[in-house]
Amino acid sequence: MSGETYVGAIDQGTTGTRFMVFDHDGKVVANAYEKHEQIYPEPGWVEHDANEIWENTKTVINEALNDALLDPEQLEAIGITNQRETTIVWDRETGQPIHNAIVWQDRRTTDRIETLEADGKTDEVRAKTGLEPDAYFSATKAEWILDNSDPIKLQRSRPEDIRDRAAEGELAFGTIDTWLIYKLTGNHITDVTNASRTMLFNIHDMEWDDELLDEFNVPREILPEVRPSSDDDHYGETDASGFLGAEVPVAGALGDQQAALFGQTCFDAGDAKNTYGTGSFMLMNTGEEAVMSEHGLLTTVGFQRSGEPVQYALEGSIFITGAAIEWLEDMTLIENASESEKLARSVDSTDGVYFVPAFAGLGAPHWDQRARGTIVGMTRGTRREHIVRATLESIAFQTRDVAEAMESDSGIDLSSLRVDGGAVKNNFLCQLQSNILDTEIVRPQVDETTALGAAYAAGLAVGYWETMEELRANWQVDREFGPSDPQNVEHRYGRWKEAVDRSLDWARD
Ligand code: G3P
Repeated sequence: MSGETYVGAIDQGTTGTRFMVFDHDGKVVANAYEKHEQIYPEPGWVEHDANEIWENTKTVINEALNDALLDPEQLEAIGITNQRETTIVWDRETGQPIHNAIVWQDRRTTDRIETLEADGKTDEVRAKTGLEPDAYFSATKAEWILDNSDPIKLQRSRPEDIRDRAAEGELAFGTIDTWLIYKLTGNHITDVTNASRTMLFNIHDMEWDDELLDEFNVPREILPEVRPSSDDDHYGETDASGFLGAEVPVAGALGDQQAALFGQTCFDAGDAKNTYGTGSFMLMNTGEEAVMSEHGLLTTVGFQRSGEPVQYALEGSIFITGAAIEWLEDMTLIENASESEKLARSVDSTDGVYFVPAFAGLGAPHWDQRARGTIVGMTRGTRREHIVRATLESIAFQTRDVAEAMESDSGIDLSSLRVDGGAVKNNFLCQLQSNILDTEIVRPQVDETTALGAAYAAGLAVGYWETMEELRANWQVDREFGPSDPQNVEHRYGRWKEAVDRSLDWARD
């Protein structure tokens, strides 16, 4: 493959890390993936080891390049996309995290959010950040780390004063994009999309917000510089004497859901996509207007190119979809994800079973931190096939919940929806989704649009691609699924809503 040049993308997700290399047509030329450990120290807590994530990042980059016989010098740029909100605080001098990363799914700061609500601060936070106050976002996670980390990890002579050291700027806060940019380039930077998920960032002024920093006890000194998602000035370069052995610009970063929006070339107001990963996230581009939701959606930053206005998006965040299929595997109800399609097809219905996989509470449009997973309608005749089918239906029903909210907020009818992510390989799910939404589902040829979006952001910044039109031309349909076989959809959707009601506020003690 000598001579040609490419763009690489690191996709650091909740369950693993991927490196992909794309050519000018947006085709994948190299790909490697590595899972990392999920750490559950207590019920409702979820952590990752940030060092393991960094080690895996280096491994997948080297593996992908080696397997495809690529020279790192052939990379014109690297983009980063990441699980959002997951929070790391590290010591700037040692580069070592002072605590495991607290993952977006983690519920340990639920009480803190309830205090915020009791103090009547919800509307103010919502107005500034576009977010529905929830333990999901980074602010309370950062506060928790600063208040609860083991000072010995700082390896300092004055171990008791983590907060003093934070105030002196000796510690650094970051989401995963920031951690990887720091490890790759030595610079402490985040992009606008990731900043918009911290609940510390004012999405109208596009600045860290002093009142929010005060509220959540996060000193400004530990925060990264906020830059465009596609940055002509580059966040930095990899070190030629480092693991890659080449100086490659790191020039683009987006939270993974925003990257998928970008990779699906949803560049215009009204364009929408749904990504089926650990959770599912439906985003609609709303252009330069930050549309505030009245139906339980989030208002978030979609992307920004250097020197151009910020593009906003409405987001329906569903916490658990693909993770429910993983749970079926953990429970040995299926051997692997692909078996779910076969088993679901082997029965005509769920036989009245509904499964609400509220393992991490419920996100949009319910926002119930204390909801928990619930299966209703089982009889002695219920078989694993019914549970598996109910799991796939739960993905489609949750998507309908957010799609209806999105249509109400935007006033736009979703006549077709672009989909991506691991689970869209499942044709049964795509057809089911089309039936339950009564909308055409469009699956593109490159379903790894998250990584593609990050590559596009970095590639635009270095001139590998020059216009958004070139990117649009790369987008190709793989398959369309039209609504058919409605099978009592409205009745079933009504029953689904009843099942959701039963899951709410379960973990109230
Ligand atoms: O907000 C959480 C989201 O970014 C996680 O994405 O793809 O790791 O499930 P994913």
